[in-house]
Amino acid sequence: MAQIFRPSSNTFAVLSVLAGAALPVGLILGMSQFTRSGYVTKVGVPYEQPVPFSHEHHVNELGIDCRYCHTSVAKSAQAGYPSTHTCMSCHSQVWSNSPLLEPIRESYVKNVPLKWTVLNKVPDFVYFNHSIHINRGISCNNCHGPIQAMQMVYKGNAFQMRWCLECHRNPENYVGDQKFVWELYQKIQRGDQLTPEEASLAKGIQYTRTPEELKKGEEWLQKYHVKKDQLADCSICHR
Ligand code: HEC
Ligand code: HEC
Ligand code: HEC
Ligand code: HEC
Ligand code: HEC
Repeated sequence: MAQIFRPSSNTFAVLSVLAGAALPVGLILGMSQFTRSGYVTKVGVPYEQPVPFSHEHHVNELGIDCRYCHTSVAKSAQAGYPSTHTCMSCHSQVWSNSPLLEPIRESYVKNVPLKWTVLNKVPDFVYFNHSIHINRGISCNNCHGPIQAMQMVYKGNAFQMRWCLECHRNPENYVGDQKFVWELYQKIQRGDQLTPEEASLAKGIQYTRTPEELKKGEEWLQKYHVKKDQLADCSICHR
């Protein structure tokens, strides 16, 4: 499958046009079986990191903003991982002798970046961009689950095509004010009263907006000039 979708080739453009008719049924069935198995998706399974970093501790208890560590998330395609310098801005003073933080100190002293294990990844033939989603007010938790409550990060969603498309076909159920993305964590941390939508997101549960909320969503789509009728086009994600 992989070589059919080499980004450099335009096979995909041709494929997309022929899509429904041309793809062998067996292949499609095979692929969907494959992508649905727990082994591939690993949703909900924590994974090994060189340092047992806790989002629950740093985000929810200490109140550190996502952008302090994932600096490019609202500006570019990639969210990125923090450099050791970011950790050491605090950990040269706090817990500076902890054995848990030895890999961080070593990376800092030797000036060799720490290698975080990548958990969330879409295949090379899929184009994804963080900033466009963040800047439409879509919460990290919509895609990544209840990050602020995770001791160890696990996958919130499998990022299968039909999951992306569910939102691309009904974006009014998700878009909103950009501030929403960051204020959600501040409200959770302060223990403020949450709206039903915020309360669902805090738990990483999919929320269905009320008719009034959907109307607001439609207004945001207009404000952002989102072309809803083109969002499910193959060429949006397969370029
Ligand atoms: C103090 C630094 C720090 C802050 C603040 C922080 N993160 Fe992270 N984040 C990390 C580190 C380090 C990793 C890699 C280690 C891990 O997976 O736990 C990571 C990993 C992740 C991952 C998984 C990356 C992958 O490989 O797929 C997601 C998703 C994520 N963070 C989202 C968030 C969100 C959302 C926020 C804000 C609510 C946030 N982070 C705040 C440091 C931080
Ligand atoms: C803004 C300051 C700050 C930054 C930046 C920061 N930490 Fe921490 N970290 C703390 C504090 C405060 C504690 C808690 C000490 C305590 O238990 O009272 C802590 C605790 C920890 C612990 C101990 C385990 C735990 O959860 O109790 C680990 C491991 C850790 N941090 C790793 C990291 C890593 C890795 C980074 C960089 C990605 C990082 N920290 C960035 C402030 C920070
Ligand atoms: C619309 C869904 C969506 C939203 C919203 C979203 N992410 Fe992601 N995130 C993804 C996907 C998809 C990937 C895999 C990207 C890839 O393979 O290039 C990813 C990967 C990551 C990674 C791994 C490193 C990287 O840059 O690929 C981190 C860290 C991360 N996201 C943090 C965040 C943070 C922080 C937020 C909120 C400020 C956020 N994400 C919001 C879907 C999303
Ligand atoms: C929760 C809703 C939501 C989810 C989930 C989501 N998207 Fe989007 N995405 C949007 C919205 C809304 C836009 C339109 C932004 C605009 O046009 O202003 C968009 C735009 C895009 C764009 C166009 C970017 C550009 O530069 O024009 C790409 C590519 C994209 N999404 C890929 C993905 C992929 C791949 C996934 C699944 C891994 C995904 N999206 C999941 C809501 C979502
Ligand atoms: C919103 C983003 C998005 C749009 C729009 C989109 N796709 Fe995909 N597509 C994906 C993602 C993400 C994957 C990877 C799925 C996985 O790994 O499970 C994928 C995978 C595929 C695959 C590989 C087989 C599979 O199911 O894993 C085919 C074939 C495909 N897409 C065809 C299309 C066609 C044809 C269209 C237009 C009708 C289209 N896609 C529109 C996101 C998108």
